[in-house]
Amino acid sequence: MEKGSELKEASLDIIFHHISDLIFQIKVIDVHHYEIEAVNEAYLSSYETSKEAISGRRIEDFLGVDQGIQAIRRFQEAIIRKKTIQFEEGYSFPKQGYKIFDITLVPLIEKGTVERLVGVAKDITEKRLNEEHLAQSEKLSIVGQLAAGIAHELRNPLTSLKGFLKLIQFRNTDQDIDRYVQVMDSEFHRIEQIIDEFLILAKPTKSHFQNNHIHHILDEVIELLSGQANMKSIILKKEYPSFLPPIYSECNQLKQVFINLIKNAMDAIGEEGEITIKAKELTQHLQIQVIDNGGGITDEELEKLGSPFFTTKKNGTGLGLTICKRIVKKHKGTFTVESNEGKGTTITLNFPKSV
Ligand SMILES: Nc1ncnc2c1ncn2[C@@H]1O[C@H](COP(=O)(O)OP(=O)(O)O)[C@@H](O)[C@H]1O
Ligand SMILES: [Mg+2]
Repeated sequence: MEKGSELKEASLDIIFHHISDLIFQIKVIDVHHYEIEAVNEAYLSSYETSKEAISGRRIEDFLGVDQGIQAIRRFQEAIIRKKTIQFEEGYSFPKQGYKIFDITLVPLIEKGTVERLVGVAKDITEKRLNEEHLAQSEKLSIVGQLAAGIAHELRNPLTSLKGFLKLIQFRNTDQDIDRYVQVMDSEFHRIEQIIDEFLILAKPTKSHFQNNHIHHILDEVIELLSGQANMKSIILKKEYPSFLPPIYSECNQLKQVFINLIKNAMDAIGEEGEITIKAKELTQHLQIQVIDNGGGITDEELEKLGSPFFTTKKNGTGLGLTICKRIVKKHKGTFTVESNEGKGTTITLNFPKSV
């Protein structure tokens, strides 16, 4: 052999073994029987096996009956068609579990018959999952738009129902009916609250971004909620300097975020406790934390936190954190939650400083 072609063969071998796709060569015994002749490193490591343990094995013996039959059907297809075939198929692996592959199967024809098959399997599990996610989020966004429309339409009849209820309340002298009316009133209130929160979420609000001082915003929010906190013997503690650099933001939206977070903290405490609102300047960010010593969140709940309508409260809407996350994202900020069951929760927000 010439020196040049030796070199080429050596580098082909390197490619064969370093490529991340699974490559395999199958010897065709007859149309029902197939032996593994060669596989690359990626194949060996995916199946956690060795060359010695695999070479010469029958395919159904190695892959197990179900997956073996699945593979043999494809081999037969390539043999009958005498053409390269390409398809997507899932296989299970000892450690990695179920994976989806884009597989190309090439029949090697010698003297008119298919003696061998060479396969290249590309792992497309992640790609497929991403596509599913995308499709799902598109679906959600259409559903969201529809629901926002419905929520908006619900407002008018609701207003007239509330009006008539007030009328009944005004004219009625029966105590029983008065109680029913009160229940109805509070239920109407709840419907209204859900609609309002929902509309904040769905409506593309016109935004007025400008440089805002976070300490002003925090001061105002704390002032606003101090009455409610007082009634529940909850102390709102401020831990931030009297001046912080501005962040480019939409003032009302940031207020909405802090109101939601502090209200959640108050709910988590119930009565008697402490909520610390911290803010400080980092190199490129402003960090704001809302720390409570309430009941905390279980790991299971933590995973669902911020998904629309996830709530553990009897009267919750489960939209508060969804709104917060949306707003924080719009401000190019980050949102993290740490929680210890029984000890409390810390929500940390980082916003980029204005330049
Ligand atoms: N500070 C907190 N401490 C404990 N649980 C919290 C806290 N903040 C949020 N949660 C949990 O997250 C859920 C969703 O919150 P949110 O989206 O604001 O909706 P809602 O307050 O209407 O339930 C709450 O029901 C609660 O279980
Ligand atoms: Mg809430």
